[in-house]
Amino acid sequence: MVTKKIAVLFSGSGTNLENLFIKLHRKVFNGVKIEIALSICNNEDAGGISKSLKYGVTPVVLKHKDFASRGDFDKKLVEVIKKADIDLCVLAGFMRILTPYFTKNVRAINIHPSLLPLFKGADAMHQSYAANVKKAGASVHFVNEELDGGEVIAQKSFMRTIDMSYEEYEANIHEIEYEILPNAVIGLLTNSNFVSKS
Ligand code: GAR
Repeated sequence: MVTKKIAVLFSGSGTNLENLFIKLHRKVFNGVKIEIALSICNNEDAGGISKSLKYGVTPVVLKHKDFASRGDFDKKLVEVIKKADIDLCVLAGFMRILTPYFTKNVRAINIHPSLLPLFKGADAMHQSYAANVKKAGASVHFVNEELDGGEVIAQKSFMRTIDMSYEEYEANIHEIEYEILPNAVIGLLTNSNFVSKS
C-alpha cells in the first residue's frame, strides 16, 4: 500500500493538529495510507506540543528567535521537511510569514479562518467578527509567497445570526476548519482532480 507522509506546522493550541491526528493519522483513504510523520512548532510553549506527543510524534521545536533572519529560519524548516521525505506540508495555525525560499521548495497548504480573499493576516477571526459580516467561514489554500494569497482549494461558510457571540462565531469557524482541512489533505493526496468549495 502507498503511504503518503504529511508534516504539520503549528504555533499555538494545536486543535487543528489534534483533529488531523484523529481523522487522518495512519488511516487509509482510497487505498492511500496517510501518516503524520513530522510536526514542527516555532513556540516552545505551544499547547500543540503535548497534543503531538500524545499521538506519538515528538515535535521538532524550532524557535524562530534563535535564527538570525527569516531566511535562515526558513532554510532550517525546509531542511527538516526535506529530510523527512514529506509529500505535503500542512500549516495548522503556524503564525509565521514564510519566504519564497520556503514556498518554492515545499508544497504546502494553510488553514485560514476567513472566506479568503477577505480578511487576510494574523487576526482574521476578530476582524471579520468586528466587521459584522453576514457570511463567515474558513478556507484552505496553497501557500505561496503572498500572505494568505495562494489558490483557494476548499472553503465553507455559515450565516451569522444577529445575536451570535464571538465565542459562538469562533466555534462555528473551528468546526468548519476541522472538516475542510482533513478533507483537503485527503483530496490532495488521494485524488488528482480534487476541488472542494461550498
Ligand atoms: C486556527 O483558527 C487557524 O485558522 C488560525 O489559527 C488557529 C489555530 O488554532 N490560523 C491563522 O489565523 C493563520 N493566518 P489551533 O492552534 O487550535 O489549531
